[in-house]
Amino acid sequence: MVELKSSRDREKMRGAGRVVAEVLEILRDTVKPGVTTRDLDVVADREIRHREAIPVFKGYQGYPASVCVSINDQVVHGIPGTRVIHPGDLVSIDLGAVLDGFVGDAAFSMFVGNPPNDRAKELLQVTEEALYKGIEASRVGGHLGDVGAAVQQHVEAHGFSVVRDFVGHGVGRKMHEDPQVPNYGTPGRGLLLKSGLAIAIEPMVNVGTHQVDVGADGWTVTTRDHSLSAHFEHTIFVSEDGPEILTALR
Ligand code: MF3
Ligand code: CO
Repeated sequence: MVELKSSRDREKMRGAGRVVAEVLEILRDTVKPGVTTRDLDVVADREIRHREAIPVFKGYQGYPASVCVSINDQVVHGIPGTRVIHPGDLVSIDLGAVLDGFVGDAAFSMFVGNPPNDRAKELLQVTEEALYKGIEASRVGGHLGDVGAAVQQHVEAHGFSVVRDFVGHGVGRKMHEDPQVPNYGTPGRGLLLKSGLAIAIEPMVNVGTHQVDVGADGWTVTTRDHSLSAHFEHTIFVSEDGPEILTALR
C-alpha cells in the first residue's frame, strides 16, 4: 500500500532530509587517506544525534552501525570497521536519519584523491547523472517505470550495468515503505505517480556485470566480478510543482 504524505509530513521530511544532507557533507570532508571506516561511523552517529535526530540504520534488521561505507567493488551495505581508506579508493557513503518521526535517506560516492582511471571517473559521473535523470522523471502523472527507465537508459548508454537485486523504495515514517523503486523499467508502466509520494531513488551502478553477492557478514554487497561500483541516493517528494529533493543542501 502506497501512502501519500500531507504537506505537514512534507515539512517534517524536509527537516529529516536536511540532517542527512548536512551530515553527509561532514562525512565527505572527513574521508581522507588513513581514516578508517569506523571513524566515519563515529562521526556520523555523533553528528546525527547532535541534530536531535536518530540514526535509522543502527539496529535495522540487526545492522550494527549508523552509516554504510562501501569501498571499490563493494556496492552497498558495507559495515564500518578497521578498514583503512587509501588514495584512489572509490568510497560510497549511505546515511539515514529520523527526525520528528520521519526518515531521510541519501548516499553519494567519491574518490579519495584522484580516480584510478578514466573509466572509474566516468562511472561516478554517470551514476550521479542517472540519479538526476530518475529524479527528473519523478513527475505527477508519470509512472514508476519512467523513473527506472530514465536511470537504466543513461547507465547502459555508457556501457555500465544497473544492479537488480537491490532497489530504491518509498520512504516516510519508516525507511522502507511501498513502492519498490527499481533502477530499471519500462516507460509508462508501473505505479502512477501522484502528489505526496515520497521515494528514495538510489542507482547502484557497476563497471562490469550487474550481478552481486552478499558477503559472509550477511550485509556487504560486492560485484560478482569485483569491478568497481558507485551509488548515489536522494529522498525526493513528488508534487505538482515537480520533484523536490529533500536530502539536498539548500
Ligand atoms: N539506503 C539503504 C537502503 O535503503 C540503507 C539501508 S542500510 C541498513 O537500503 F543497514 F539500514 F539496512
Ligand atoms: Co535507501
